[in-house]
Amino acid sequence: MFGEKKVLYSGMQATGTITLGNYLGALKNWVELSNDFPDYERFFGIMDLHSLTVRQNAAEFRKNARSFYAFYVAAGLDPEKNCIYYQSHVSAHAELAWILNCFTYMGELNRMTQFKDKSSKHSDNINAGLYTYPVLMAADILLFQADSIPVGVDQKQHVEICRDIATRFNNLYGDVFTIPNPYIPKGGAKIMSLQEPDRKMSKSDENQNATIFVLDDTDTIIRKFKRAVTDSETEIRYDEEKKPGISNLIDIYAVMTKKTREDVEKEFVGKGYGEFKLAVGEAVSSALKPMQQRYAELLTEKSYLDGFIKANDEKAQYFANKTLRKVQKKVGLTERIR
Ligand code: TYM
Repeated sequence: MFGEKKVLYSGMQATGTITLGNYLGALKNWVELSNDFPDYERFFGIMDLHSLTVRQNAAEFRKNARSFYAFYVAAGLDPEKNCIYYQSHVSAHAELAWILNCFTYMGELNRMTQFKDKSSKHSDNINAGLYTYPVLMAADILLFQADSIPVGVDQKQHVEICRDIATRFNNLYGDVFTIPNPYIPKGGAKIMSLQEPDRKMSKSDENQNATIFVLDDTDTIIRKFKRAVTDSETEIRYDEEKKPGISNLIDIYAVMTKKTREDVEKEFVGKGYGEFKLAVGEAVSSALKPMQQRYAELLTEKSYLDGFIKANDEKAQYFANKTLRKVQKKVGLTERIR
């Protein structure tokens, strides 16, 4: 809570291109929630500091971060009503993260599955940032006194450690932080790889056919879905264990067309996998197309986006600094002389 208002907070790392998993697990919900909860304060970060845990090419990274901003807007987040901002433009993130590092145990960080996954993928660069990544994420959330954090399933553990850190801090210093809750969507919270459907769809997958990117053109999307790994049966039926590939496609189609899994099964009774895959590809591509068009326009409207970037950075700084000053005071750091 910030004053009288509840707060919704989320963000994405500014690396590479947004995937269909990011869109369905996060961005699509942000848009829906911002329409459903107009009374909430809403902050959506472009988490560029988190991206630094993996080596980036500076020029490409800067371009990507801009592209994320444009895609958030193109997907339907109105930057006038939603505070979309760059994490690195609000220095309170890094400052609070340092303080929270001193309230987080190594044993807690050792349990984080994303750290284990990422350090096995980047074994040549297991840096301290990768390890303390969840603490920076906790700082993001706690700075804004956020109540609800819409994320995909894979980020639930990070929201939980954030709650633990906040509770520990509050027990020592009184009610400083709002304790946040993860908000996991009913459908689309865990979109799987199209090539290995027992693994999460990921932007860093080496097999490009495994991942749909929101900027993929229609032909590419259809081709990737046609090649999606399924099973040797013929029935379009939801069974996550025995038919993970088909179940993933059912989920994607269901969220895209706002249908239930049962509706999808009924729609495709007696139809083959080929026809179903094509329908999924077409549904995804036609949903993404208007966003892609708006995105392309936004990239040419430089001053339009720049105006929002500036105003929203300032708004985020204002909120974040309020919490930071409170924390600094509580832990006993010397107050500034005005
Ligand atoms: P990131 O950038 O990995 O992912 C952004 C969002 O996309 C969701 N997601 C998925 N959802 C469904 N299926 C998938 N295959 C899939 N892949 C990714 C993620 O759950 C996430 O919601 N640490 C965060 C970024 C972050 C953040 C925060 C989020 C930094 N600070 C504060 C919320 C609040 C991350 O790595 O997201």
